[in-house]
Amino acid sequence: MLYTDKQYKRFTVTSALPYANGPVHIGHLAGVYVPADVYVRYLRAQGADVMFIGGSDEHGVPITIKARKEGCTPQDIVDRYHKIIKDSFAEFGISFDIYSRTSSPEHHATASAYFKKLYDEGKFVEKVSMQYYDEEAHQFLADRYITGTCPHCGNDRAYGDQCEACGTSLNATDLINPKSALSGSKPVLKETKHWFLPLDQDEPWLRQWILESHKADWKVNVYGQCKSWIDAGLQPRAVTRDLDWGVKVPIADADGKVLYVWFDAPIGYISFTKQLKGDDWEKWWKDQDTKLVHFIGKDNIVFHCIIFPSMLHADGSYILPANVPANEFLNLEGDKISTSRNWAVWLHEYLKDFPGKQDVLRYTLCSNAPETKDNDFTWKDFQLKNNSELVAILGNFVNRTLVLTHKFYGGKVPGRTSGTPMDDEVVKELATFPERIGRSIEAYRFREALAEMMNLARLGNKYLTDTEPWKLAKSDPERTATVLNISLQICANLAIVCAPFLPFTADKMHRIMNLPAMGWRDAGRADLLMEGHQIDQPELLFEQIADETIQAQVDRLLRTKEQNALNAWQPAEVKDNVTIDDFGRMDIRVATVLECTKVPKADKLLQFKLDDGMGGRTIVSGIAKYYPDPQALVGRQVCFIANFPPRKLKGVESQGMILSAEDKDGRLVLLSPSDLVTPGCNVG
Ligand code: 2FM
Ligand code: ZN
Repeated sequence: MLYTDKQYKRFTVTSALPYANGPVHIGHLAGVYVPADVYVRYLRAQGADVMFIGGSDEHGVPITIKARKEGCTPQDIVDRYHKIIKDSFAEFGISFDIYSRTSSPEHHATASAYFKKLYDEGKFVEKVSMQYYDEEAHQFLADRYITGTCPHCGNDRAYGDQCEACGTSLNATDLINPKSALSGSKPVLKETKHWFLPLDQDEPWLRQWILESHKADWKVNVYGQCKSWIDAGLQPRAVTRDLDWGVKVPIADADGKVLYVWFDAPIGYISFTKQLKGDDWEKWWKDQDTKLVHFIGKDNIVFHCIIFPSMLHADGSYILPANVPANEFLNLEGDKISTSRNWAVWLHEYLKDFPGKQDVLRYTLCSNAPETKDNDFTWKDFQLKNNSELVAILGNFVNRTLVLTHKFYGGKVPGRTSGTPMDDEVVKELATFPERIGRSIEAYRFREALAEMMNLARLGNKYLTDTEPWKLAKSDPERTATVLNISLQICANLAIVCAPFLPFTADKMHRIMNLPAMGWRDAGRADLLMEGHQIDQPELLFEQIADETIQAQVDRLLRTKEQNALNAWQPAEVKDNVTIDDFGRMDIRVATVLECTKVPKADKLLQFKLDDGMGGRTIVSGIAKYYPDPQALVGRQVCFIANFPPRKLKGVESQGMILSAEDKDGRLVLLSPSDLVTPGCNVG
């Protein structure tokens, strides 16, 4: 069936379960969901038996922290985001067979039973250890409840379970200068009992399975991360936590303890399979003829390549993943995507701002997917991909072909006579595309596959340009018919091979061309459309995106950047101490503004004539930008340094310095006494 793979009977494809503490953004899409969806749509087109699993990860400390902040329950938080995420995935065309959630009773039952079986079989190591405890909040500080400095990279905002700056997975006790995220206090160490997965004992088979068996077929980034973990020596890993939000530890004497979120979440893939397939679920997880593939981002590699396999192995009845094609990260306009800094393009907002343009984003994210290294999304590039590729290449070819078919043949597919060598060459080349695209998809090289798909549209465009059927219609009707017949066959082929990447466009092409349902193996043929087959009126597949539309998105990001800079503002450090004498040397006084005008040819400067109680003086001040109506300052009192040496500014002698405060946005604000005082009096 497939071009490269062992002939599996079925495919279990999972995509990382997003935390239900925020909406989904383009980083999630490019890293995980677009490639996973392309893969499963392709497999389905190949006639494979596929199950595509998705769902929300609804446990873990970030959710409880958010609930605390908002004064609601964790369930409120996950209900809100699960709906947003699920609805936006559906509208975006991510074709899950099930999108469930880990707070469901079915999931709790499955995760609980999984733990209990391993516990009963003695697969865990029970350990009493010292863990951080917040004496003010009366709570153990699991995972993100504790922050501190990463011992590997020095990031001072590392969490108790992970440093996001260097990606290292941590134990809370590794942190330097730990601090409670609940109260900000310094935590103390306190005894508590937990259950550990003895990863150290798994090292021999993990080494053999990953480092030897999968050296050739796993991605270099995935293999490399696994190798450095294994080479560093695997440590037992706690799979329980002292928390009250999560799946309760199902044994006696474990009150107030839940399963670690990274223990229960991947079991979600299994519990969702049970929800979807009922009694028939086991073959999707236990039959050696099933291919299990996990689509994830690079921060999830260790959990899917080492910890979850170790859990599956401990049970003993499960298959292991055949591949884990993790992607690197996508940045946005040169900066790391960040939920807390609102530096993201959120899927639900994109769908509102660009209705009906799901495929434009799918195309941009797939063609720019961070498959081998981190990549950047820019709105300019998004516009370029739409205008210069989707509109100018794919849309243009299909539109030209359909318009000419209507113009010359009333929308009926014309018959083909024996062709020229050029026709034969095009037909021959057409036949090679499905396999080339398919092989790239099967090797998880989705960018390459997408580029090949576009090359087929390029082939069609070149063929039309070379043959110019619009000029031939009168002089050589037979040849015109042949050229359009072949062009229409290319269009029908495009409708098949673009479907994994651009499903909405493929549906539209099917509808316009009245195509029957076709599989991948139909592609490559130049006889998909019979002579006389009726085609509907052409419709544009894509439309130009205007500069203003893009600018609006860029402006939104600029506003976010400004807001973030304001949020990050902190008062400057206090300078070294001064003596009373140092201060006494500063002659600060109050004056009343008599006149205030702009200094000619100097945008920034205002010229003040002041009543300083001593006969008057002129001071020039660089605050024009903040006081556009200088006249309005007349009569107002200001503070100034009277013994500042005079200096010339733009030809005007300035006799002192007017005092102002610099606000956090850089704005200068004049300082005035709160009540009227006599001009010339001292400030001190
Ligand atoms: O990194 C994350 O967003 C996790 N919620 C992924 C979990 S994947 C799986 F194991 F459930
Ligand atoms: Zn670090």
